[in-house]
Amino acid sequence: MQQVNLADNIYYLGVNDRRTQLFENIWPIPHGISYSSYLIVDEKIALIDTIERSFIDEYLERIEDIIGDRKVDYLIINHMEPDHSGALKSIIQKYPNIILVGNKKTFGFVEAYYMTPENTIMVHDNHTLDLGKHTLQFQMIPMVHWPETMVTFEENTKILFSGDAFGSYGTLDGGIFDDEINLDFYEVEVMRYFTNIVGKYCAHTQRAIKKLAPMDIKMIAATHGPIWRTDLDWILSRYNKWSSYDLDRGVVIVYGSMYGNTKNMAEVIARQLAVRGIKNIRVYDASKTHSSYIINDIFKYKGFIVGSAAYNNSLFPNVETLLSTIEHMAPKNHLLGIFGNYSWNGGGVKNLKTFAEKIKWELVYDPIEEKGALKANTQDELLKLADAMADKLLEMPKPE
Ligand code: FEO
Repeated sequence: MQQVNLADNIYYLGVNDRRTQLFENIWPIPHGISYSSYLIVDEKIALIDTIERSFIDEYLERIEDIIGDRKVDYLIINHMEPDHSGALKSIIQKYPNIILVGNKKTFGFVEAYYMTPENTIMVHDNHTLDLGKHTLQFQMIPMVHWPETMVTFEENTKILFSGDAFGSYGTLDGGIFDDEINLDFYEVEVMRYFTNIVGKYCAHTQRAIKKLAPMDIKMIAATHGPIWRTDLDWILSRYNKWSSYDLDRGVVIVYGSMYGNTKNMAEVIARQLAVRGIKNIRVYDASKTHSSYIINDIFKYKGFIVGSAAYNNSLFPNVETLLSTIEHMAPKNHLLGIFGNYSWNGGGVKNLKTFAEKIKWELVYDPIEEKGALKANTQDELLKLADAMADKLLEMPKPE
């Protein structure tokens, strides 16, 4: 690949992964993902993060193409998750005198995953490292995405190497910088990356945004997705909105249904919401749509209504998996409705009530449960549930 510069002597060393089906072996990435590392060549040479292990050979060759026989002096480890530390051992083998730069939490992960690190510099907030013409400054942003996560700010060019923060799913198909790309494509992939990977840590993300706000950042170079050099507000404003649970008027309805009776209940609710003027309504079959996409819409819309058929006296399994994921992520500020269906003992709605107690969202109407096919009196109840949800949503001082 051609060399790509962020600035004089600062190089992009990213790779595109179009083979992996599931990121973290969980999340679908139909449009792939990129892993970005960066190289600063100065009196001292510094690598910032590495890449996923499948790309080690290509990665080492690209470094050598740039620096020839010179050695890399520092490996800055902003984040230790293996999609970024995958080449760490190979880098140490190739450049045995390299110094690993991390914080007090970093090196425990190095030891756990790879080896006991020998040459290290432990940094903290505002700590700087002089490379010659470039100076690196470090700031800790724990839990965005792991406890050791930090960012590195190059003071002369004002480039922020941000790790997972401000990253995205989706490969970089030729365009690498934000002004080289139609960002419509990344609208979905940036949000899905945020909600799937960092969404559990919204409070930490908010703290990180506030911490970085006073810095004079001219470019954001994350470890996934585009490099932001022209419209930084595009990504910063979105991260701020999502991590502060600033939700839009709308409802996500999810159901688990074997023979269509629970689905029919969902359809009644959805139609009534539309009649009441709610325009953002997304109805998902939990057996068909991966939780990656459903979670994403839950981070968009304030209403969430979930229905489950009873299955072996419990929740429908795919609904159970989704609700478990939601409990892990624990998004806030939602309105909740629950309904379900059973044939003999039930178990769906009973467990939805348990979910409601755990998640602590505002339940807008009493749980509704039908036995078998939908009857008129239950349909009336579903209409009331939809009305209760619509009433609350229409109180929101928000545009659609
Ligand atoms: Fe892209 Fe948390 O690793």
